[in-house]
Amino acid sequence: MYCTRKIAEHIEWVGGNDRRLALFENLFPIPRGVAYNAYLILDEKTALLDTVDSSIARQFFENITHGLQGRPLDYLIVNHMEPDHCANIEELMLRYPDMKIVGNLKTIQLIQQFYGVDLDGRTLIVKENDELPLGRHTLQFVLAPMVHWPEVMMTYEKTEKILFSADAFGSFGALNGAIFNDELNFERDWLADSRRYYSNIVGKYGPQVQAALKKAATLDIRMLCPLHGPIWRTDLSYLLGKYDLWSRYEPEDQAVAIFYGSMYGDTENAVNVLAASLADAGIRDISVYDVSSTHVSQLVSESFRCSHLVFAAPTYNNGLYPAMETALLDMKALNLQNRTVGIIENGSWAPQAGNVMRSILSEMKNMRVLENGVTVKSSVKDEQIPALMSLRDEIVKTMQQA
Ligand code: FEO
Repeated sequence: MYCTRKIAEHIEWVGGNDRRLALFENLFPIPRGVAYNAYLILDEKTALLDTVDSSIARQFFENITHGLQGRPLDYLIVNHMEPDHCANIEELMLRYPDMKIVGNLKTIQLIQQFYGVDLDGRTLIVKENDELPLGRHTLQFVLAPMVHWPEVMMTYEKTEKILFSADAFGSFGALNGAIFNDELNFERDWLADSRRYYSNIVGKYGPQVQAALKKAATLDIRMLCPLHGPIWRTDLSYLLGKYDLWSRYEPEDQAVAIFYGSMYGDTENAVNVLAASLADAGIRDISVYDVSSTHVSQLVSESFRCSHLVFAAPTYNNGLYPAMETALLDMKALNLQNRTVGIIENGSWAPQAGNVMRSILSEMKNMRVLENGVTVKSSVKDEQIPALMSLRDEIVKTMQQA
């Protein structure tokens, strides 16, 4: 049975949800599932904006068959050529033989590269700011390269003032009936997954997101329609503000996130002592994560949220504890910048973890490593307490300065 929702006059949401997929991109846990959004415009011409993942193709075709009410599909707009959005292009070409595929040159190259289909006479190639009239509605194309992939573009519908924004402004999480931001509790139920999605999927491309935000600022936008997660039709400045911070690598919160690896509980003990002393000193937003049991996407997400990060890890193979190395290298790969960082290392005979952590951090932009590092030899003793308290004091002082 079809399951669609009207988002504006003659514009329908025709996407769907996958609540069975465990790992998005076979990497990221999505216990709340994921939505693949697609949109259908019915005018003198009909246009479909993107398709969906192959896992929900059946639902998708029921939706568009219902939405079209027997009419042919004139245009498929391909804003993003990643398979979670374009898995159904070939089937659409077969079902709608007069349908034109609308994309930029890179889009068309990628369609051929992925699917090897004969596109002769089936494409309409567009450039920045080109327009496609559908009747009462007009689409304007806004290129947004590397707001995930190089071919990405956004489509602005001028009559209803809707920006179809591709991966930008998306989130992990299935849409549970409610598809608009004002129908759900975003801050409570979605913000963490929205941040985890942004930081891990698009986080590396902050400058390109900034460029897209600048283009978006020139448009009068009433509604943001991403390819994943809720549609935004109120309070757009809230989400735009988050994207501005995230893409400039500025923290959202003056907060401490402590990431630790611990083989037998001793490095964890040092972290507990530090966290308790921070709370005693009046710091209220403290998070503690075991890097061995917390998915790295969550660690990355928290590193994008918090102003102060503490990394605490044992020495391992004369280097760094592997789970911590993975976390730090992922943060580096995603271009994390502008954080204040504390270091705690443990090493029973030749501590090296601190050196490796400092080396990785030195290759990241504007990471201020606090002077008061802590070295634990096997387990915390009285002699480490002054160093832990000095680290606490430096964290408190730099938070107050901020
Ligand atoms: Fe949702 Fe970059 O694909």
